[in-house]
Amino acid sequence: MEKALLNSAVLVIFVLSISISFSEQLQSSQAQTLLRIQRLLNSPIILSSWNGTTDFCNTEPTSSVTVVCYEESITQLLIVGDKNAPPLPQNFSIDSFVTTLVKLPSLKVLSLVSLGLWGPLPGKIARLASLEILNMTSNYIYGGIPEEMSSLSSLQTLILDDNMFTGRLPDWVGRLPALTVLSLRKNSLNGSLPDSLKSSESLRVLVLSHNNFSGGVTDLSALTNLQVLDLEDNLLGPHFPLLGSKLVTLVLRKNRFSFNIPDALSSYYELEKLDVSFNRFVGPFPTSLLSLPSIRYLNIAGNRFTGLLSENLSCNSELDFVDLSSNLLTGNLPNCLTSDSKKRVVLYARNCLATSYQNQHPFSFCRNEALAVGILPRPQKKKQASKAVIAMSIIGGVFGGIVILGLGFLVARKLKSKQTFKRPTTILIAENASIGYTSRILSDARYISQTMKLGALGLPAYRTFSLEELEEATNNFDSATFMGDGSHGQMYKGQLKNSLLVAIRCLKMKKYYSTQDFMNHIELTSKLRHRHLVSALGHCFECYLDDSSVSRIFLVFEYVPYGTLRSWISERCGRVLSWTQRISAAIGVVKGIQFLHTGIVPGVYANNLKITDVLLDQNLVAKISSYNLPLLAENLGKTGNQSSRGSKGQGISVRAKHEDKADVYDLGVILLEVIVGRPFISKNEVESAKEMLQESVTADRGTRRGVVDQAVHGACSDKSLKTVMEICIRCLHEEPAERPSIEDVLWNLQFAAQVEDAAARGDSQSSDGSPISPSQTPHLKLTFR
Ligand SMILES: *[C@@H]1O[C@H](CO)[C@@H](O)[C@H](O)[C@H]1NC(C)=O
Ligand SMILES: *[C@@H]1O[C@H](CO)[C@@H](O)[C@H](O)[C@H]1NC(C)=O
Ligand SMILES: *[C@@H]1O[C@H](CO)[C@@H](O)[C@H](O)[C@H]1NC(C)=O
Ligand SMILES: *[C@@H]1O[C@H](CO)[C@@H](O)[C@H](O)[C@H]1NC(C)=O
Ligand SMILES: *[C@@H]1O[C@H](CO)[C@@H](O)[C@H](O)[C@H]1NC(C)=O
Ligand SMILES: *[C@@H]1O[C@H](CO)[C@@H](O)[C@H](O)[C@H]1NC(C)=O
Repeated sequence: MEKALLNSAVLVIFVLSISISFSEQLQSSQAQTLLRIQRLLNSPIILSSWNGTTDFCNTEPTSSVTVVCYEESITQLLIVGDKNAPPLPQNFSIDSFVTTLVKLPSLKVLSLVSLGLWGPLPGKIARLASLEILNMTSNYIYGGIPEEMSSLSSLQTLILDDNMFTGRLPDWVGRLPALTVLSLRKNSLNGSLPDSLKSSESLRVLVLSHNNFSGGVTDLSALTNLQVLDLEDNLLGPHFPLLGSKLVTLVLRKNRFSFNIPDALSSYYELEKLDVSFNRFVGPFPTSLLSLPSIRYLNIAGNRFTGLLSENLSCNSELDFVDLSSNLLTGNLPNCLTSDSKKRVVLYARNCLATSYQNQHPFSFCRNEALAVGILPRPQKKKQASKAVIAMSIIGGVFGGIVILGLGFLVARKLKSKQTFKRPTTILIAENASIGYTSRILSDARYISQTMKLGALGLPAYRTFSLEELEEATNNFDSATFMGDGSHGQMYKGQLKNSLLVAIRCLKMKKYYSTQDFMNHIELTSKLRHRHLVSALGHCFECYLDDSSVSRIFLVFEYVPYGTLRSWISERCGRVLSWTQRISAAIGVVKGIQFLHTGIVPGVYANNLKITDVLLDQNLVAKISSYNLPLLAENLGKTGNQSSRGSKGQGISVRAKHEDKADVYDLGVILLEVIVGRPFISKNEVESAKEMLQESVTADRGTRRGVVDQAVHGACSDKSLKTVMEICIRCLHEEPAERPSIEDVLWNLQFAAQVEDAAARGDSQSSDGSPISPSQTPHLKLTFR
């Protein structure tokens, strides 16, 4: 098993986009500008360390002040004042302030948070033409959002939360070409939402909560990248918005929505949080929402939903908050909400449920009220809406090339060095500065990782290890702990003091590098943590004494004990996965890839994934061990560093059109082995196996049985087998553009899993239809492509 692990544990393919940071020297005019900003802000305490001799570019960032330079210009300026800072005194002029700011024309990231800024935002802020992130949360800025900002063509993130902006949301907002995050919560904006939003395709996060917006919500169904929509506390309605199906968070709380919730919601397989509370919704509560595959938070309180609940409804086990209170529900509370031991909040007061808990109305109350609701004008929209939904799921399936714009996030930082004279020629450097702070700058990634439920991994936080710790864990790198020698250094198995098993990779440096050179790669590595990735736990630098260049880097990963996926499928070492276990392993791999593509900015593509790179843990959870980790290694020399300055300067990587589809093909090859139960080495073998699958998909059940691995062929349902075969064939399509999106693959595998599950329970009814709901979406997905 160790051997298998070793083979597969080529954890790291080092692809380089290195940036070497030299210390920057700031133009003196820009230093003067900073000092003037300090005065205009009334010299707040947080800027008290700035004076005429300050070396701004090489000052260690703090949680309240960060200055980042590139080639003698300031590219990032973050100043965060005290919470609830009062408005600046009467002699403050926002006009002079912005006039001064625009003398820093290279600014890409500007955060001016809680500084007491007041006055109308001057349009000349748009002279900062390179601006990518603007965060002016918690000030006292009033008036409209200036028209001039429509020229900020690089703007990705615009956050003006918690100010006093008035007027309408301008139409040009939807036409900003790069906008991914728009957050305007807690202002006094009013009027209707602009039509242009419907074509703001790069938008990922739209937060307009706590304003006075009114009217219908713009059709957002074409926004295939939209993950977060928060409209809480406005006057919007009455129709449920038309939305893309990839939403993760949908908050419509406290608005004026009425009519039914559309059935299509039951196919929002990525939805984690749904809050429609305190509106005027009527009609039957779609109980299938409880069992959406990703749902964790469901709040429908304070509406007039009707319907009979029953004990035997199923719910997603991840669900940890359910509020059904103040509706017109009858019947019994589902057992799945109450019985299992999981700690979850379930509120259901003021319904007519058959329970003595939580203050229920008599049955007649709900019946009468429901009758009254029934007299309301029936939503004629309904038919139309479901048509729109069909169109939506087709559009949603076609993968729109997303342009992910990453930011150069290298921040000069001084290392506090701790010297350990353990070896005569080396010292050990531990950077005590927390890894966390540059996260603020990767703001978009922060939003994503929240929705990707990072942190729920049960892994310790990423940290710096000391060399002694690693020596102790491996008994001084004893040969008994040696797992293998790869092109990317040696692997050792170790056990930390807290008994956690780890895999430690040791990389020897052949050229001169300072620890600085690695910081942004380490930063990125520390973010690659996901249930379905072999995640990094930390690192350790060992440095030479004489010039403090790096001699070795140690990367510490979680240890995944149960061998490769191949060893459980086609190596037959006395163990073999069942069909259900195979599907769930495949789902894990897909989720891992999905995270690499979209869970981090910039996305990690072209991972050259093989079945031997998928490891299983003790719960048979699949984890990808080899990904395209952009961390520097000994092959640094090969790539050279001419590309490096760019990555720091602009830091923008534009996602090529079908960059994600190489991984989809590799996934197809893995699925093939999962289905057939033997390895396919050459491209030709894969092609002929694909043809064989293609024939068997259209043939009869018996033929399909003949193709599938004998070890599972008695124990898998034909429908789920066919679904997996079909998606496998599509993944292996010659044309990258024709291959399905990762989301599509995930959807189909989840469908197969649910069909299999239903079949295993002998529930013939639901195995004929959709796993989630009566919705027809799965069939559409399969046939329309
Ligand atoms: C504004 O007035 C305060 C005193 O209220 C003074 O300390 C500060 O220097 C003045 N700021 C400017 C920019 O004139
Ligand atoms: C500038 O500030 C630094 C500390 O931040 C201090 O050591 C230095 O003396 C100051 N210089 C002047 C001219 O005030
Ligand atoms: C919304 O408008 C109402 C009256 O039109 C006003 O009382 C309320 O303060 C406004 N709310 C916000 C958040 O501006
Ligand atoms: C928006 O608010 C302004 C006052 O801030 C008011 O004059 C205007 O009528 C409001 N518009 C709408 C559509 O409510
Ligand atoms: C659930 O239970 C109800 C009776 O409480 C029964 O009529 C219904 O058929 C059951 N449904 C399933 C899917 O078992
Ligand atoms: C904007 O600033 C607020 C307040 O500091 C912070 O909570 C938020 O994370 C910032 N957003 C981004 C994207 O930087």
